[in-house]
Amino acid sequence: MKKCVLVSGGAGFIGSHVTVELIEAGYDVIVADNMSNCDMTCFEGVKKITGREDIPFIKMDFRDAVATELLFTTNKVDAVIHFAAFKAVGESVSEPLKYYKNNLTSFMNVIESAKAHGCSNILFSSSATVYGEPEKLPVTEETPRQPATSPYGNTKTMCEDILRDCVKAYPEIKGIALRYFNPIGAHPSALIGELPRGIPNNLVPFITQTAVGKRECLSVFGDDYPTPDGTCLRDFIDVVDLAKAHVFAVRRMLEGQMKKDYEIYNIGTGTPLSVMELIKGFEKANNLKLNYKIAPRRTGDISALWADPTLANKELGWKAERRIEDTLAAAWAWEKHLASKE
Ligand code: UD1
Repeated sequence: MKKCVLVSGGAGFIGSHVTVELIEAGYDVIVADNMSNCDMTCFEGVKKITGREDIPFIKMDFRDAVATELLFTTNKVDAVIHFAAFKAVGESVSEPLKYYKNNLTSFMNVIESAKAHGCSNILFSSSATVYGEPEKLPVTEETPRQPATSPYGNTKTMCEDILRDCVKAYPEIKGIALRYFNPIGAHPSALIGELPRGIPNNLVPFITQTAVGKRECLSVFGDDYPTPDGTCLRDFIDVVDLAKAHVFAVRRMLEGQMKKDYEIYNIGTGTPLSVMELIKGFEKANNLKLNYKIAPRRTGDISALWADPTLANKELGWKAERRIEDTLAAAWAWEKHLASKE
């Protein structure tokens, strides 16, 4: 019998890519999303890519404990991957309660219902933001976490702790937290990708929107950081590579291969790239020129963060494979696909 994976927040950027990879790996998937930060574009794209018109989709909000309970009552779920969360760093600073209420309540509801219905495998979508500004780079999973610079970041740390404590208290559940570095790019089909609402906060959507003419000019936030070219260093991870890491992690859970009941993995490439290198890379990969200018630093940004992904490479058998040129070409193809539909 095929195992069934519930993907909460499965209509969003990362969730839709994960859904594709799970289906291609032979899993049944239930997608549930409240559509608060996306439309059906990506879910429709997932159906096209996989050739599966019958993927179950449930429009629901995981803050609603009754709806969450109903989902688990009416479906046999073997594992859940929890994405459903708000993710705008800046907004979380001005509206912390919105973030704490949504991100924490949703996750607790999911764990509670999963546990009650014998679904013992819970994968949480965490973030490298839990490392704050680390003293030593690259970061391993042993690198101490630091207070995050935003309520959004705090919710990631808190959800990790909730999962860790639940796994400890309830022997029937196991958990994996994947700490993503900077997910970028889009599916090579250009049928799914990032769909930011309003002005993008993240670098790559801002780059592609500038290239397509939606934004006039990209601001490079700071060129006076203590890095080789003065711009920040990040570990940009292709979203398809990232999605594949989830398949490895889910398989590890479902096939009883976990060494501990709660495991944490860094999901990154291990190779830092500067903001300027990324811009130049985008220009080269797509043979175009970007309009950009140097601007002041953005509050809350850290100068450098990249992963040591050795543990994920070894234990999950996963490794980032996509070349950055291909990632940046895919991001651009996706933006052009969106423009062609307008
Ligand atoms: C942020 C969050 C991270 C979250 C990620 C994806 C923090 C500290 N970071 O990462 O948790 O997982 O977004 O949503 O909470 N940049 C520009 N111009 C722009 C936009 C960005 O120069 O218009 C620069 C930034 O200064 C930064 C780099 O590009 O140095 C990457 O920025 P961004 O894509 O926003 O990701 P992070 O801030 O690294």
